[in-house]
Amino acid sequence: MEHSKSGMNQNEKTYVGYRQVHTSEKGKVVQQHFTSIARRYDLMNSILSFGLHRLWKRTAVKTLKLKEGDRIIDVCGGTGDLALLAARTIGHAGRVVVYDMNRAMLEAGRPKAVRAPFGETISWVQGDAENLSCADQSFDAVMVGFGVRNLTHLEKGFREMHRVLKPGGKLMCLEFSKPPALWFRLLYDLYSFILIPLAGRLFTGSLEAYTYLFESIRMFPSPEALASLLEEIGFSQVTYHKLTNGIAIIHRGVKE
Ligand SMILES: C[S@@+](CC[C@H](N)C(=O)[O-])C[C@H]1O[C@@H](n2cnc3c(N)ncnc32)[C@H](O)[C@@H]1O
Repeated sequence: MEHSKSGMNQNEKTYVGYRQVHTSEKGKVVQQHFTSIARRYDLMNSILSFGLHRLWKRTAVKTLKLKEGDRIIDVCGGTGDLALLAARTIGHAGRVVVYDMNRAMLEAGRPKAVRAPFGETISWVQGDAENLSCADQSFDAVMVGFGVRNLTHLEKGFREMHRVLKPGGKLMCLEFSKPPALWFRLLYDLYSFILIPLAGRLFTGSLEAYTYLFESIRMFPSPEALASLLEEIGFSQVTYHKLTNGIAIIHRGVKE
């Protein structure tokens, strides 16, 4: 596994959900969180999103307009859903790397590739998205799904994604967001702060397992702020569009 050599200021703070922690702690907390839910991650996703996550992921991968033979990295790829979808499009000549720091998530995903079409084109790499162990300009596309919220240094993660893209390569970031319409947000709050923690307790035995999810969504930058950050980093043609009343957002950008 990769280790950060960033020499970050030890007094620097960040958020894990609503909780403020030293930047050095966040990675550990996030690791523990995903290790505790890895075995039931796919099942919980389907239950909690009423299956919508599958539709969002399909839509997100389609927006990349992948071609046969493309080289792709699925950053914070977890159990590999986006990678499995991409593998079908890029065929035998293509390659997908699922890159994630959590071993339990990767292990939960690997058996899916054994059964899936073109699953043999997927490789599974354990490492930190903020220090990708990949050469500059090595991928035609970078995908990241529901991952960047968990990073300690969001900007650093996106700079790494920009670095490993070939010129002309595309970024796709699928992430949760706060729905903008008030009536929908009230329903969503009820669902996320009451029903979800209870479901989390029922299925994973932990009331907290899914409070982190919704707290971290609320602490995440707005779609406009995220688009500006991507432009600052050097992505061009940055666009975003909302899915299901703004519960999830797809950002896209191109490396010039
Ligand atoms: C919510 S899951 C998303 C998994 C998958 N992309 C999906 O859409 O189902 C977030 C993933 O990000 C990973 N992750 C969080 N911080 C990371 C980091 N700094 N480097 C690499 N992976 C990270 C977690 O281990 C977890 O597997």
